[in-house]
Amino acid sequence: MENQSEEVPLGPVKVGVTYNIKHAEHASGKAPDDQAEFDSMDTVLAIEAAIRRRGLNTVLLEANDTLPQRLREEQPDIVFNIAEGSGGRAREAQVPALLNLLQIPFTGSDETTLCLALDKALSKRLLATYRVPTPRWRVFSPGEPIRTAGLNYPVIVKPNAEGSSKGIPDLCIAQNAAQLRTLVEQNIALYGGDVLAEEFIHGREFTVGLLGNGASVAVFSPMEIVYHNSPIDGFNVYNYTVKQAYTEYVSYRCPAEIPEMLERELVRLAKKVFLALGCRDFARVDFRMDGEGRIYFIEINPLPGLAPHYSDYPMLAEFCGMAHEDLVYSVLRAGACRAGIAL
Ligand SMILES: Nc1ncnc2c1ncn2[C@@H]1O[C@H](COP(=O)(O)OP(=O)(O)O)[C@@H](O)[C@H]1O
Ligand SMILES: [Mg+2]
Repeated sequence: MENQSEEVPLGPVKVGVTYNIKHAEHASGKAPDDQAEFDSMDTVLAIEAAIRRRGLNTVLLEANDTLPQRLREEQPDIVFNIAEGSGGRAREAQVPALLNLLQIPFTGSDETTLCLALDKALSKRLLATYRVPTPRWRVFSPGEPIRTAGLNYPVIVKPNAEGSSKGIPDLCIAQNAAQLRTLVEQNIALYGGDVLAEEFIHGREFTVGLLGNGASVAVFSPMEIVYHNSPIDGFNVYNYTVKQAYTEYVSYRCPAEIPEMLERELVRLAKKVFLALGCRDFARVDFRMDGEGRIYFIEINPLPGLAPHYSDYPMLAEFCGMAHEDLVYSVLRAGACRAGIAL
């Protein structure tokens, strides 16, 4: 008779990778940067390779309408989620909400945090209660009168709930109320959602990467985006044009050449924002500094791009000595650890 008490050896953990990739066709009537936030298949494959190299099983799961069925069939133990979702300001929450419904653990922040962070005005409102300094701003909704009073010019105009510099064209700076009105109207026409106008902070720009959880979250050395050219006269903006041809416009310095006190302040603020928004596993926070050395929070990305050698988060990790595959594994380990899964 078989020994019933003998434990069956478990196979390796099965990791699903959920993603949305850019598709070749460009829908007419959509903005040119319509698919900017989606990933390339190369990024998805790099993530898969990094996970497989650790001896884990993987299954690739495109986040389209087949996803619920595929998740039921494949039954991953955990999902490495980079899916952006589609449609509306809660799009990044779609996959996490589905995974929670099916009780499948996943890496990264939950749906509430992703919604909150994608809505820039909402996150600024929340962070104001934590006294995190952020540029003065105003939100304009489609169909509502554009009241421009109360802002100091110049202001930058950007969609309230986009990422990857979507909706930040070379014409994004308003110097007066008439220009602001025009830019807001154009932005609403192209992107449909709320528009954020923010006082422009002229100084240096930094981005800070975080990895891990809770009070012990690790913070990479801040990276500076150093401008040496700009498609916008007199303004340095890390916009779509710049990101598409970054070697022409910027270089990256990590660690940033800054006094220790400034580095400490960036790290402190990045952690504060991460914890205030309930982020998990990884995130990247953008800051700008004014002429007086004051730091302003610009936005947080709890689902930062992971394109090897291109996206800012893996780039700054690499500057700090962490290769792409180790970064991916560290994010996975952070998520697995929270879920009590031994990898
Ligand atoms: N208030 C601001 N002052 C100065 N620069 C800004 C401001 N808001 C945005 N920017 C510039 O625009 C870039 C993109 O804005 P951001 O809010 O980070 O949008 P995205 O989600 O597309 O990255 C920033 O990296 C920065 O260069
Ligand atoms: Mg940004």
